[in-house]
Amino acid sequence: MPGIVCIGVQWGDEGKGKIVDILSERADLVVRYAGGNNAGHTVIVEGKTYILHLIPSGIIREGKRCLLGNGVVLDPISLFEEIETLKKQDIEVGSNLMIAQNAHLIMPYHRLLDGLRESGNSHRKIGTTKRGIGPCYMDKAGRVGIRLIDLMDEAWFKELVRMNLEEKNVLLTQVYGEKALELNEILDQYLPLADKLRKFIVPGEKIVNESLDRKEYVLFEGAQGALLDVDFGTYPYVTSSNSGVTGVCSGSGVPPTKITQIYGVVKAYCTRVGEGPFPTELPPDENQIMRNRGDEYGATTGRPRRCGWFDSVASKYTCRVNGVTDLVMTKLDILDECPTINVCVGYEHKGEILTDFPSRADVLWECKPVYEELPGWMTSTAKVRKLSDMPDNAKKYLDRISELCGAPVSWVSVGPQRDQTIME
Ligand code: IMP
Repeated sequence: MPGIVCIGVQWGDEGKGKIVDILSERADLVVRYAGGNNAGHTVIVEGKTYILHLIPSGIIREGKRCLLGNGVVLDPISLFEEIETLKKQDIEVGSNLMIAQNAHLIMPYHRLLDGLRESGNSHRKIGTTKRGIGPCYMDKAGRVGIRLIDLMDEAWFKELVRMNLEEKNVLLTQVYGEKALELNEILDQYLPLADKLRKFIVPGEKIVNESLDRKEYVLFEGAQGALLDVDFGTYPYVTSSNSGVTGVCSGSGVPPTKITQIYGVVKAYCTRVGEGPFPTELPPDENQIMRNRGDEYGATTGRPRRCGWFDSVASKYTCRVNGVTDLVMTKLDILDECPTINVCVGYEHKGEILTDFPSRADVLWECKPVYEELPGWMTSTAKVRKLSDMPDNAKKYLDRISELCGAPVSWVSVGPQRDQTIME
């Protein structure tokens, strides 16, 4: 039965929160499989805005079960802050949330090291969210990470932190000139959380496979975007997990044969936060116009997002790598007032036209977009609820995007509200 995936196929911030919220109406289980509290998913319901960072957006709907899979990195302090914020908005988090026992914990030294690596003028700056994501995944791959289950055994947890501090404190003091971290301070912060976390802990892979065996509808919620995927994104300007569809299997324990449909969310234009090449990025004045129209500011860090035209070279690539079966286009209404709309259909690089997405960031930095100019529709789409009622030029835009990306645009979002969605 359905294993449905919803991922962003640009650089994140495509508006997945709203789409996951709609899809989760049918879902029996909503699973986050990668990333951590670096994400910011905004859901607006009846005028109320909810911003989720780690907890799946499905939590907003009463009675939905949500799971944080093993591929997620968990900052327990931030998790409880998020639970408190939701509580203030009348969303109770209890038995509706489960966390895989083998999810890795973000530790204080991860946050610290992330910030230190990003400080100064290092040319290796990624523009991370400084939430400790990269250092935590480094420890996971380096086999020195600490998992949620480890926190449940006080003596064992203490030993793991002690061993980690031996190495981390050398880094902190000798490489970065910082103060060493104290073992007891970390234990005082984390050990009291063990009891609070215990009730959420499950064998994640068992939960998700049993649900699929019962023929339930399981929705896998992506975070970040496919161009931030550590393997298939604009490396090294990426996050540290497989944010694309490949992360679903390793990050939740389901076999690929259980995935039946893959929604790829694209914004009608492109945005990017943080450093890294962005071929269709607009010059500053036009960038600001697009940013204001689309209210493009990060939901996690508040950083202004860089804005640009739709890049079909990049999206064709991510649709292919991720096997996208349906495209969902969000924020089409933001283009309502554009007399003409550009779509990038190739890159000019050293006198050659590239139509395949380069895997080297330095090449991508040098690429100039080749645009196809399409006429705008110059009328509001915010109240359109059927594709047949769409202005002709908007339909042409959607058709052209489908054709260029090799996947049909099946849904279109024309505003933040749930009902501002066209599902054909
Ligand atoms: P990190 O995931 O905090 O290590 O950041 C790595 C890169 O991914 C930076 O460019 C971030 O701006 C970007 N990033 C991480 N999470 C998100 C997100 O939810 N939306 C958009 N960009 C993100």
